[in-house]
Amino acid sequence: MTKVEIDELIKRVAVKAALETEGEPEPGLTSEINWPVNATINRGLEGAISNTTKIGYVNGAKGWLIYRGLNCFDLAEKSSFEETTYLLLYGHLPSRAELQGFNDKLIAYRILPDAVLDVLKAMPKTSHPMSLLATAVSALGSLDDEADDISVTNETEIAIKLTARMASIAGAISRLRRNKEPVNPDPDLTHAANFLYMMTGTKPDEASERIMDASLILHADHGMNASTFTTMVVNSSLSDMYSSVVAGIGSLKGSLHGGANEAALYILEEIGSPENVKPWFEKARAEKRKVMGFGHRVYKAYDPRARILGPIAELVAQKNSESQKLYNIAIALEKEVIEVLGAEKKIFPNVDFYSGLIYNAMSIQTVMFTPIFAVSRIAGWTARALEYLEDNRLFRPRAVYTGPIKAEYTPIQDR
Ligand code: ACO
Repeated sequence: MTKVEIDELIKRVAVKAALETEGEPEPGLTSEINWPVNATINRGLEGAISNTTKIGYVNGAKGWLIYRGLNCFDLAEKSSFEETTYLLLYGHLPSRAELQGFNDKLIAYRILPDAVLDVLKAMPKTSHPMSLLATAVSALGSLDDEADDISVTNETEIAIKLTARMASIAGAISRLRRNKEPVNPDPDLTHAANFLYMMTGTKPDEASERIMDASLILHADHGMNASTFTTMVVNSSLSDMYSSVVAGIGSLKGSLHGGANEAALYILEEIGSPENVKPWFEKARAEKRKVMGFGHRVYKAYDPRARILGPIAELVAQKNSESQKLYNIAIALEKEVIEVLGAEKKIFPNVDFYSGLIYNAMSIQTVMFTPIFAVSRIAGWTARALEYLEDNRLFRPRAVYTGPIKAEYTPIQDR
């Protein structure tokens, strides 16, 4: 076989295909462009319905967030992240024995393979923790001999592994970037307490543990948000759960989604004082700049998660004058944004506005805010990917092609 033979073969096929496929676009499409008659485009898939689910419900008009029928306020008050994750994965609140069994697995899985820590250590300290998180989850997938067993049973086990390890990885990243050795999890601590312990190296007080637990519960699931949808899309091709979650992490990183918690804090720091809020906001509006931590595709009412996180932020802000200053800026900004955009565009604070203030008051580095989101959202990503896998169908939308359809190929020497 020679290169010339291959060239001739492709040419023959191209000529034959041109003859056989000549003519108008397929019936039902207009002749100018690949545009189905009567089709409308919902940019960003707004309002598009892709599947049914029993996992969670967001009512944007009322400001409801429900996991498996249970209101997020009830869960934040009475549940734990471990129990909420079980609820999302299995569809019911666990019995004592079921919760014990689930906890035992989390304890065992929390310990990271040395190879993953080695991969993290080889990365630059300046990498964004979300990129490092994706790298580490990808490494975990490469290390798991069972990764390509695409059965609901095996993928559920991987979901539990990833739930346990996301916190360990984020903890290790937080320490390594500050030139500190990772800390092993403590089997006697809860998931929230372990996570704080693995970041700081100090066992947290009860209040910090409670705040982190409530925050993890409130971030665990949220409808077909961008990162959940991304995870589901990848999983629907029957890829492995690690790859699906890596994709979800990539999606969460963006500042229009989970990355907004980090971006929101930078904005508060940029504003600098409550007196600067008004002029800052006027300038931002004139520049058509979005205020991070505000607005939502689904909520046209106050985000229920922010209803809880706002007052917690107020409480923790009292810890020191810097936190109090940022909180004062935040409430002045909320008042200003709602006054101007609340009625007109139904723009209110979202979950990312106050979560960052809380983490900041807890002395957590700003670049770690979005990884905290991932430590929680792994529950929703995997629960929904697994639910979809049970009756899987490849996600495959279409785009309307608006380019030319009969362009001539110009050889490079003639361009
Ligand atoms: N600040 C100022 N104006 C805003 C904001 C905002 N935060 N959000 C929306 N708007 C305005 C837009 O400029 C637009 O105005 P226009 O109609 O005059 O052009 C209108 O509201 C609609 O905005 P879109 O961006 O088209 O609405 P979408 O449904 O895509 O928005 C989104 C959702 C992306 C979250 C948006 O509100 C935003 O960018 N917010 C800031 C980033 C953020 O906080 N993201 C976190 C969301 S929660 C989460 O993912 C966990």
